[in-house]
Amino acid sequence: MDVTLPNNIDWQTWIRRWDKMQDLYIPARKERFEIIARLITDTQRKVLRVLDIGCGTGSLMMPILKTFPNAGVWGIEFDSTLLALAEKRFVKFSKRTLLVEADLRKSGWTGLVGSRFDAIVSATALHWFSPEQLSRLYKQFARILRPGGIFLNADHAGSACKQIQKDWENQRRFLSRKYEKGNADDWDGFWRAYGRELKINVKDFRKKLTGAWVGTELGLPLQWHFEKLKEAGFMKIDCFWRMAYDAIYGGIKK
Ligand SMILES: C[S@@+](CC[C@H](N)C(=O)[O-])C[C@H]1O[C@@H](n2cnc3c(N)ncnc32)[C@H](O)[C@@H]1O
Repeated sequence: MDVTLPNNIDWQTWIRRWDKMQDLYIPARKERFEIIARLITDTQRKVLRVLDIGCGTGSLMMPILKTFPNAGVWGIEFDSTLLALAEKRFVKFSKRTLLVEADLRKSGWTGLVGSRFDAIVSATALHWFSPEQLSRLYKQFARILRPGGIFLNADHAGSACKQIQKDWENQRRFLSRKYEKGNADDWDGFWRAYGRELKINVKDFRKKLTGAWVGTELGLPLQWHFEKLKEAGFMKIDCFWRMAYDAIYGGIKK
């Protein structure tokens, strides 16, 4: 969907507001990005192609671009209002970035990014998908990674055990307070304000884009992800970091 940013938009402020809003919900978000970059460094000899799934404004792409100066970094996202901010952010990196507007629920998206990726990464996006959609995505990731390439996802990963989940949610509330930096928009507040700036009816825009919510708000258990990754053709599958019901997990393409 075409969205034109106003000529005089202060895009840096909107990117900052997005990150601050995400920080409110995602404790240790910056650390997660650093861990992902480090895990790629530690497992890959050469990093030339990286893909960020559900890249939003490009917050995870940025540390990847900085850590791997020879890498081309692709970002895929279906929200053109966020991609428009990412485009502004990456003007300096235009030779090494490619932003693709596509809906990951539709089958054709792999054709738009090609294959032989050294790493596929994602942050707080995959819980938007239903279990069926996500297991299909894992198979698609395996197809477009080169053998030995790594998949890493930082996202919610809940527990099938009610008591543990409850405890994690309590821990999460404590952690959110600890990491909160103040003056952040909440999710709806960010979209209301950004919609006013873009002069679009953001509620309608987002409803059309996302349709009915089919995701798992607090994430599926790690065990579920491990099984589906194995079925898709990954090995050395593991959880590399955990904080309450958030985790970084992934595996190496066989
Ligand atoms: C919570 S945001 C995280 C964005 C970014 N990874 C970050 O950490 O700032 C989740 C992102 O996934 C994107 N997304 C969700 N479903 C998608 C789909 N079906 N196709 C493409 N992108 C999708 C959303 O538009 C949103 O930008």
